[in-house]
Amino acid sequence: MSDLAAARVRPLLRGLLGEPYLHSVETASTQDVLRESAFPHGAVAVTEHQTAGRGRSGREWADAPSKALLCSVLLRPNGAAPYAPLSLVVGLAVAAAIEREAGLEALLKWPNDVLVGGRKVAGILLEASGGVVVVGIGINVNQDTDDLPAQTRTPATSLAIAGGRPFDRGLVLVALLTELERRYAEWTIGGLSGFANELDRRNALIGRTVSISGHTGTAGAIATDGRLTIVLDNGDVVLVASGEIELGDEPARQA
Ligand code: BTN
Repeated sequence: MSDLAAARVRPLLRGLLGEPYLHSVETASTQDVLRESAFPHGAVAVTEHQTAGRGRSGREWADAPSKALLCSVLLRPNGAAPYAPLSLVVGLAVAAAIEREAGLEALLKWPNDVLVGGRKVAGILLEASGGVVVVGIGINVNQDTDDLPAQTRTPATSLAIAGGRPFDRGLVLVALLTELERRYAEWTIGGLSGFANELDRRNALIGRTVSISGHTGTAGAIATDGRLTIVLDNGDVVLVASGEIELGDEPARQA
């Protein structure tokens, strides 16, 4: 039986997320299972393989069948807009779930990536329309190096590569939905304001040289509206709302 089978995962789910729980052997994209559907808040779609998995900015999200956690969650925030900062809340939940289940330190690469050991282990795609948000999460769980794309903007890894052993995707999913449910409830009440410490602690970019939207400088904190602070070389401070980060060199470490 698959470690994502409903018979394995459903008895472990205690909250609102995962009802209904839709597991398939193959689908085009778990996002499309939930988008424009009548499913209630909390519906979750997972699959063993996507034939048309998508990432951000129109990129393809490829997978090795039955090795990744490919998951979408349908949320109905009832007007708790704007939605963009929600991807940071989801990122925190993914990072916490990875730490809990795999014992690996996980950090956020603003705005949508989760890194382990400086490599991308998970990506998040938020698709919103008509008051409904479908959050897509792809976590590299049991891929070997050969299963991962070689040419990516951020080098990729999996929990198995970083942790040196395979992991149960069902347990990673249950941890993710548990971590997400609590944070989502907090976000609907106070936005990102209650997440400042956690965002600081998990911000992989702090102190790094970054370029985005024509700005180059040193990344600082993530503001409570979700924007990334960048201190430019001339001392000016800019706040960036969205975009693709280009990373410069790692800061030199003190001996
Ligand atoms: C990114 O880093 O570009 C985001 C990747 C999001 C991938 C997930 S896998 C489950 C869900 N279904 C999709 O087609 N995409 C998301």
